Amino acid sequence: MRRLFVAGNWKMNTNLASGKELAKAVAAEATRLGDVIDVAVCPPFPYLASVKTELQGSKVKLGAQNVWFAAPGAFTGETAVEMLTDVGCSWVILGHSERRQILGEKDELINKKIAAATSEDLGVIFCIGELLEDRQAARTEAVLETQLAGGLANLDAAVMGQIVIAYEPVWAIGTGVTASPEQAEGAHAFIRGWLTKQYGAKVADGVRILYGGSVKADNAEILLSQPNVDGALVGGASLTAAQFGPILQAAAKCAAAG
Ligand code: PGA
Repeated sequence: MRRLFVAGNWKMNTNLASGKELAKAVAAEATRLGDVIDVAVCPPFPYLASVKTELQGSKVKLGAQNVWFAAPGAFTGETAVEMLTDVGCSWVILGHSERRQILGEKDELINKKIAAATSEDLGVIFCIGELLEDRQAARTEAVLETQLAGGLANLDAAVMGQIVIAYEPVWAIGTGVTASPEQAEGAHAFIRGWLTKQYGAKVADGVRILYGGSVKADNAEILLSQPNVDGALVGGASLTAAQFGPILQAAAKCAAAG
């Protein structure tokens, strides 16, 4: 069975004090639950190093929300892969719909970033997902296929161990509307099928596919019980220990249930 992975995407939220406090609370809860699931928090850039300090002694990993693909140099405002690993990041979120839509990131750029991250020791949480109009027009699978093929272009099976896919239907992000367990499972099974075609069953079976989009304490368990849902990427509900803790507990319960 794939080990469940729950990551908190803090987006552009918290400040130094509240970020540290939240990290400490997540670390305490993860330690209390035991080493049964993987947990990560992804704070804004300025807080990465301080949050890392709060996570010390726990198994909670640190993730960033973006990276640039080139080696350190003249790229004002950008951050290199080795800078992230230097401050203790294990993960980076790439392909998030907010970056695709608000910052105009295209599959080709996302692909370069994924290649750069995986060429070093940085894991990638690679986000894909369809817009509401895509789903309504029955284009969900076509969109997922385009984003997968574009984002993973020229990446061979060897790096797939460093990549986690996050299926995040755009209509479910921050809206309070969650995909039904059937919708999530359908999309995840499609993604795994695509990975199987591309990389073979052995590799595809090992890739974790997280669900993201209004995951909350009261829907986490049913979503995480789906056979192809291997964790969650949580935005809004990762911003307080009171909401994130029960999601971690739901994941630990699902892990125990096998
Ligand atoms: P949400 O965000 O949980 O607030 O819907 C998820 C995400 O964008 O990663």
